[in-house]
Amino acid sequence: MTTNKKCQIISIANQKGGVAKTTTTAYLGAALARLNKHVLVIDSDPQANLTYALELDEDSQSFALENNLATMYESGQSAESSLIKVLDNLYLIAGSPDLIMTEVSLDTNPESVSLEPEAMLKNALQPISNRFDYILIDCPPSQGMLTLNNLVASDWIIIPTMASVISLTGLERMSEQIYEIAHGDPPLNSNLKILGVLLAKFRRDRRVELEIEAKLRSCADDFFVFKTVIPDRSQFELMGELKAQTGRKLIELSMVSYSLLPYLTLAMEVEKVLRAKTKPNK
Ligand SMILES: Nc1ncnc2c1ncn2[C@@H]1O[C@H](COP(=O)(O)OP(=O)(O)OP(=O)(O)O)[C@@H](O)[C@H]1O
Ligand SMILES: [Mg+2]
Repeated sequence: MTTNKKCQIISIANQKGGVAKTTTTAYLGAALARLNKHVLVIDSDPQANLTYALELDEDSQSFALENNLATMYESGQSAESSLIKVLDNLYLIAGSPDLIMTEVSLDTNPESVSLEPEAMLKNALQPISNRFDYILIDCPPSQGMLTLNNLVASDWIIIPTMASVISLTGLERMSEQIYEIAHGDPPLNSNLKILGVLLAKFRRDRRVELEIEAKLRSCADDFFVFKTVIPDRSQFELMGELKAQTGRKLIELSMVSYSLLPYLTLAMEVEKVLRAKTKPNK
């Protein structure tokens, strides 16, 4: 399919908890920004872990209390008024515990909230999307209306997963949900596709994980598995030491240190895969 659109909107999604969705959103976002891309990350989880992970300064924290994804849904305004600059090239729309109430209103009485309750995020992002090369959306570990809004707004999904049998079951359920959104009657977003499955917290020293990796890669017709894997522990401990020594934020350290994180390798692979998938038809 031909697309000349500049901004790629990618949901980082898996209804299974603790598979590194938030970590991937933060560090892939930082890595793409390090590659001089203009990046917006959105925290759509009431746990607001992404917002905490980005270690906002006090002014931004106060701003985020009044201007976040929950207030955006409530007011129906464009995303413009909620943008927070985190670092050069990296912006955030903050999460908030109030997203629990947003989800309840959207689930119980969607028409009272909006005429297009599943497309509220899509509509709010439209006026600003041309300012960014990438918008990455950190999804909560559930399949409610917040996740549905994220998937309706997105072109692509990256599915982080761990190499365990139970995670494979989660992948099947994700695939079903994506199929429903892309091919339902009517389709809510016929554009939506899986960009790739990302093996995260991966342990090469465990045979069962290697076997599951091989099994996943053999399903290449169903979904692409990124060549880059994120090792368990990765260099996070080293980053923690550097943070203590330098007093700088983790996300800043990931921007200045090329060798520190496999997420930089992932960022380059994401760019390559996207170039291949969005190449205009001759
Ligand atoms: N490569 C890694 N190695 C070790 N631990 C990791 C790695 N990546 C993330 N973690 C840790 O795993 C835990 C879960 O990560 P994260 O919060 O990113 O997952 P999540 O999928 O967003 O979780 P949730 O479903 O609750 O939103 C966190 O404590 C995080 O620090
Ligand atoms: Mg999370």
